[in-house]
Amino acid sequence: MRILFDKDEVRRICEEKRCAGFRIGFVPTMGALHEGHLSLVRRAAAQSGFVVVSIFVNPTQFGPGEDLNKYPRDLEGDSRLLESVGADIVYAPDKASVYPSGYATYVTVERLIEGLCGLSRPGHFRGVATIVAKLFNTVRPHVAVFGQKDAQQAAVIKRMVRDLDLDIAIDVGPIVREPDGLAMSSRNRYLDSEERSEAAILSRALREAETMVSSGVTDAHKIKAGVQEMINSMPLACIEYVEIVDREELFNVSDVSGGALLALAVRFGGTRLIDNTVLLPGKG
Ligand code: PAJ
Repeated sequence: MRILFDKDEVRRICEEKRCAGFRIGFVPTMGALHEGHLSLVRRAAAQSGFVVVSIFVNPTQFGPGEDLNKYPRDLEGDSRLLESVGADIVYAPDKASVYPSGYATYVTVERLIEGLCGLSRPGHFRGVATIVAKLFNTVRPHVAVFGQKDAQQAAVIKRMVRDLDLDIAIDVGPIVREPDGLAMSSRNRYLDSEERSEAAILSRALREAETMVSSGVTDAHKIKAGVQEMINSMPLACIEYVEIVDREELFNVSDVSGGALLALAVRFGGTRLIDNTVLLPGKG
């Protein structure tokens, strides 16, 4: 496995591999890797012969007052993990090579970015779509793997790829969880021990919603109320949103009979956590 910082070198090696007939798999990350990220790399390795993982803490997707400066960085530790799961290249560009001075071009996927996390993080998905488009242009993968953990992000990227006619398959891997159900996240390390133990309520509330749906409840309002009540029983939890939306268009739905995405964002102290599940009547 090689760790590369230079865009042109990554582009050249990927081009060579592509010409040699390799299928190229790509997993973009911001580092501070955990089992959730590694599951995506394994997924990429299972469907391609050459795997590129990028590590870049992308400043354009952080808002003012967000955790850009304290976002955990550990290229050495991350690289060891990536080698163990079959990555061939770690691409870790620096900020100046990604956004040279005078940088002026952004990719905006409209509508899908308005609700859910887009409400409290204006500009976030513009930053995500822009960096992912740029990384796609360097690596030019056949397949790129994203996590269902960031369901809105996955929907935005799929739409960008479709709308801009990018010839890249988007694969979405399931959410990897801690033993108590908390979705793995690089930000979980910000939680103190009390917040950490309360945070397990999020996945329990999602499971409860799934149980409601499998017992025949399809009224989105009722399901949301049940989820909110469970989360509000935790003294440190502060709900940003609990929404039930169309899985692709992300607009609110009032009934989940045709399937829907239940997504939430909750703060514990200064830490914002997100989680979600797909509600499918008959799934449970
Ligand atoms: P990051 O938060 O590092 O996540 C990289 C990828 O890992 C994303 O596709 C995310 O959905 C996935 N992931 C995170 N936690 C997961 C979990 N518990 N289970 C499964 N997958 C998980 O998402 C980003 O970085 C950035 O926005 C990026 C796409 C790299 C653009 O900067």
